[in-house]
Amino acid sequence: MAPRKFSEPTDRILGTRPVEVRRYGAFIRVNHWFGAICFVLLMLSGFALFHPSFFGLTALFGGGQTTRWIHPFLGIALVISFAAMFIQLVRLNILRREDLVWTAHIADVITGHEERLPELGKYNFGQKVVFWGMFWLILALVATGIPMWVQYFPDLVSIPTRRIAILIHSISAVLIVLVFILHVFAALWTRGTIRAMTRGTVTGGWAWLHHRKWLRELAGRRGTNAAE
Ligand code: HEM
Repeated sequence: MAPRKFSEPTDRILGTRPVEVRRYGAFIRVNHWFGAICFVLLMLSGFALFHPSFFGLTALFGGGQTTRWIHPFLGIALVISFAAMFIQLVRLNILRREDLVWTAHIADVITGHEERLPELGKYNFGQKVVFWGMFWLILALVATGIPMWVQYFPDLVSIPTRRIAILIHSISAVLIVLVFILHVFAALWTRGTIRAMTRGTVTGGWAWLHHRKWLRELAGRRGTNAAE
């Protein structure tokens, strides 16, 4: 008996190369990793200055004095790096109605039922929370950090005001570390995301699954896609 056939003779596999979508250009990726390095160094030097039990971390920076000296400069570097990212990314991180629907379906996000979620643009609500969380906390850290920088601004504020600044600085630092952990966890948890910030590209499948509105818009652009 002849084997059963499942296809028409004219059916063909026409291409084997998967769809690849550009998500970030070179400048933003280099700047992102520069900011990430500054952040990690800030976190380590900040903990070292925060409590005597972390004093051992000062060895990473060549001792207590250099740690105290370098920490604010790293902070300024992070502010400049984040400001550049902010300018490039702010437009697509503005909150929209679909973000509310996404939040209402947070259980489906966690259990991986993305088919029940609304179609999303370039960023989901979680990513936007990280973006705005980092923005406000970096702002709070620099605004309170300058009056704490006694070497250059000894008389900027009174001692009681500086004490309040130290408290706000410490609380903001703890919060931004939590936001950072959330950000790294989300990037690792959602498979295929890290390459967006390393190679600059994601697969078509990733874009279809997580950011379909964004992909549809790119597919609809005339004259910019490799296939055209
Ligand atoms: C080792 C640490 C880090 C890792 C592994 C990491 C990873 C990533 C990845 C994979 C993306 C792309 C996500 C996507 O487009 O869907 C991303 C985006 C982003 N990252 Fe990071 N990141 C790190 C640290 C940081 C730090 C310290 C900051 C800020 C101070 C930061 C700020 C951002 C911003 C603003 C975006 C764009 C997403 C948005 O605008 O909502 N990242 N990161």
